[in-house]
Amino acid sequence: MSEATPHDNILEAKAVTLRFGGVTSLADVTLEHHRGEILSVIGPNGAGKTSLFNCLTGVYSPQEGSIRFQPAVGKALSLVGKRPHRINRAGIARTFQTSRLFNALSTFENVKIGVEARTTTGPLGAVLHLPHTSREDRRANDETERLLSFVGLSEQAGVLASALAYGDRRLLEVARALGTRPEVLLLDEPAAGTNPTEKLKLSALIARINAELSVSVLLIEHDMRLVMSVAQRIYVLNFGRVIAEGTPAEVQQHPAVIEAYLGAPKHDAAPST
Ligand SMILES: Nc1ncnc2c1ncn2[C@@H]1O[C@H](COP(=O)(O)OP(=O)(O)O)[C@@H](O)[C@H]1O
Ligand SMILES: [Mg+2]
Repeated sequence: MSEATPHDNILEAKAVTLRFGGVTSLADVTLEHHRGEILSVIGPNGAGKTSLFNCLTGVYSPQEGSIRFQPAVGKALSLVGKRPHRINRAGIARTFQTSRLFNALSTFENVKIGVEARTTTGPLGAVLHLPHTSREDRRANDETERLLSFVGLSEQAGVLASALAYGDRRLLEVARALGTRPEVLLLDEPAAGTNPTEKLKLSALIARINAELSVSVLLIEHDMRLVMSVAQRIYVLNFGRVIAEGTPAEVQQHPAVIEAYLGAPKHDAAPST
């Protein structure tokens, strides 16, 4: 974290505008994700948070603006127009707001698919059972085990994804995304629907992903307590626009943020910590 300077951005969106017919989902959004930081994007429902993730991961192509990814210093890559798998291979992984696990596969297999997404045979090869070298396969198994242990799911390795507790499903999605060895991890409301204990677990996991795996994290989250405890900086979106940016303390005091969340400014009604 101490290495990050204001201009060493691992990910950078500049004046991004995204429209669907008459709807403007993102209007002139500029965002800088400093290398090594946990950055959060918050905002009311429909603010454009998921749309932003979709632009960063190649699901949507914004009509205006630029997106730059710099996996290593001096190695910049423009992301607009690139396909999602290409962006994933370049070093950006994500989880989705709603679960996209393979329910008929085990916990172990779900993570292994993430790990194999970057090997030469790739996930399609894995599904078609194309021959892996046994060494390659052993390495994928080892890494899958390491990741399951990292997120605390080792004991559930053989359990079908569909049979996991809700909070564990969310952890599994994170493990699968980590399997692609990203430089940046995008988490879209990972704690949605989880209980307070699971939220604490997730928040500790996000901090460890950042500190121990040196992964920059971009976090969309509604739970203010979680965001405030884990994020170093926050962008606030409302109606597709950035209305505030700063440290958790700065953002909490921001009149536009208080208004966006509560409809009217009130001195004691900032998002609670
Ligand atoms: N594929 C799409 N087609 C049409 N409108 C979309 C599409 N994706 C997002 N939008 C619109 O963009 C706006 C922002 O949505 P979204 O990014 O999902 O917000 P958030 O994640 O902040 O709740 C909404 O008005 C939504 O209806
Ligand atoms: Mg969303």
